[in-house]
Amino acid sequence: MSLLLGIETSCDETSAAVLSGTDDDVKLESLVILSQDVHRVFGGVVPELASRAHLTSIVPVTERALADASVTLGDVDAVAVTVGPGLVGALLVGVSFGKAVAHGSGAALVGVHHMEGHLFATSLEHPDAVPPFTALLVSGGHTLLIDVERWGVYKMLGATRDDAAGEAFDKVAKLLGLPYPGGRHIERLAGEASADEARPFRFTKPMLRGDQQLGEPDYFDVSFSGLKTAVLHAVRGSTDLERDARGIARAFQDALIGSLVEKTARAAAAFGRKRVVLGGGVACNRALAAAMQDRVSSLGATVFAPKPRLATDNAAMIARAGLFHFERGVRDSLSLNAFASMPIPGMA
Ligand code: KG4
Ligand code: ZN
Repeated sequence: MSLLLGIETSCDETSAAVLSGTDDDVKLESLVILSQDVHRVFGGVVPELASRAHLTSIVPVTERALADASVTLGDVDAVAVTVGPGLVGALLVGVSFGKAVAHGSGAALVGVHHMEGHLFATSLEHPDAVPPFTALLVSGGHTLLIDVERWGVYKMLGATRDDAAGEAFDKVAKLLGLPYPGGRHIERLAGEASADEARPFRFTKPMLRGDQQLGEPDYFDVSFSGLKTAVLHAVRGSTDLERDARGIARAFQDALIGSLVEKTARAAAAFGRKRVVLGGGVACNRALAAAMQDRVSSLGATVFAPKPRLATDNAAMIARAGLFHFERGVRDSLSLNAFASMPIPGMA
């Protein structure tokens, strides 16, 4: 039984969490997430502003997480902190703070890969979302299809060739005049459209052909930039965008989800997995989870989607992944550094 403090500052959420437990028997004692609102004004994350905002928030956010869990730093066995991938200036705030806290309190220091955190996130809510499973991680920066045989034993099956799924949502939202980040606005608008309204805009599901074979790289990979361009043409060709926006949003979402669902189902089938775990901000999309469940039911598989607080960036998942490594003896030194990009540990 260990007590971990998790810290996450890789992008635009300053987050701290306290987690207790051992193996898969864990309890989330607290989770504080401070989303940086300032980036909305700019329509995207401004790295320098993100670093500064982390600097002002990291201490109160952490104090709040400790207080909510009714623990003090002296109780903490290990500090788990995101070391990458992400914005390096933003990451450095969390890494430097994590080091100081660990050094000052005598706790161990454990660096965590942000995407490995996402793999663990759903299990904090759904105890059955544990390996073996097929994972689809879809965020603003990543689109990864991963086979998880055991915790720490991962196989990268597919990724996006260009835009991440969330990035595609955000860019299409911009084309339709919706606020940033646009994913949930597209989902809402798409939900208002009837199938009739979407039909005239029907887009091809990207990277999906029936003759693709297991072993070929395009069997599991996805791509969204062509779909985004198709949306651009539809928007330009519209004589009444106010009338057409709903149908376009729905047709876009259907095509993107259709591609993700089919690729994920291929992965689950190829490895005989009975569980599909979603993660990342786009996993908040209800239509994605519903379409996924619909498709993989025929494989006898169940889909686990995290609630929004655990789908988007948060320190609970970092503490959870950190616990796994801490229990296996990982101890990082004060020379721990931040990296804009880095491989997931245990990834084949
Ligand atoms: O994981 P996340 O919070 O941050 C990173 O990018 O790491 O993901 C944010 C992304 C944004 O692109 C946002 O538009 C998208 O997740 N998103 C959604 C939904 N909610 C958030 N995309 C589709 N449908 C949603 N309901
Ligand atoms: Zn993330």
